[in-house]
Amino acid sequence: MRDISLHILDLAQNSVAAQAKRVGIYLEMDKTRDILTLVIDDDGRGMSREFAQKVLSPFTTTRTTRKVGLGLPMMLERARAAEGDLTIESEPGKGTRVVITMRLSHIDRPPLGDLDGTLLTLILMAGDDLNYTVRFTGIGDPFELDTSQVRAVLDGVPLSDPDAIAWLKEALAEAAAPYLAIDSQATDLIREDNT
Ligand SMILES: Nc1ncnc2c1ncn2[C@@H]1O[C@H](COP(=O)(O)OP(=O)(O)OP(=O)(O)O)[C@@H](O)[C@H]1O
Ligand SMILES: [Mg+2]
Repeated sequence: MRDISLHILDLAQNSVAAQAKRVGIYLEMDKTRDILTLVIDDDGRGMSREFAQKVLSPFTTTRTTRKVGLGLPMMLERARAAEGDLTIESEPGKGTRVVITMRLSHIDRPPLGDLDGTLLTLILMAGDDLNYTVRFTGIGDPFELDTSQVRAVLDGVPLSDPDAIAWLKEALAEAAAPYLAIDSQATDLIREDNT
């Protein structure tokens, strides 16, 4: 099963393709309400209301190499299978916000997968004019990493500098750890339920 990290990669790729300069990736785990929420927010070219509606059907895409765009329909299907949903708010010239919810403890909820590794990859693949805001909330203190702030601190040293990479890697791993722990606990509960 495709994990949530791969979907994050897909959705961020859509934002990059839409010429976004800023992409927000927000993950919230609400244990009390048993809801996992993922938001991908960008300032890219956006879509008309009609197109945003059509996009969730697998026969709509602006790609010319292939007739069928599958990223969003697949994510919608996965969300619905976990008693969740996917909604798109978009405005041409302003940007796009994709909101995905799932039931945290649902047996069909995909695992988070390599959350910190995926985010590190996205950040390192970004050109100088693309910044990410990563936010994790719900478990312990909120975590936020804004690559434009990291760049400001680095003062001209690129994000690809080995020390910068090491710092980013550690910061993301440390922030993701409690979420990955809850992620596997939820899976353990499911396993217990089924044995
Ligand atoms: N963040 C976004 N900003 C603007 N347009 C978007 C965004 N996300 C998706 N779209 C539009 O919706 C279409 C469908 O996206 P989707 O991810 O489902 O498929 P795709 O990216 O075309 O192909 P695939 O993901 O299968 O490689 C895209 O081709 C694009 O036109
Ligand atoms: Mg896509």
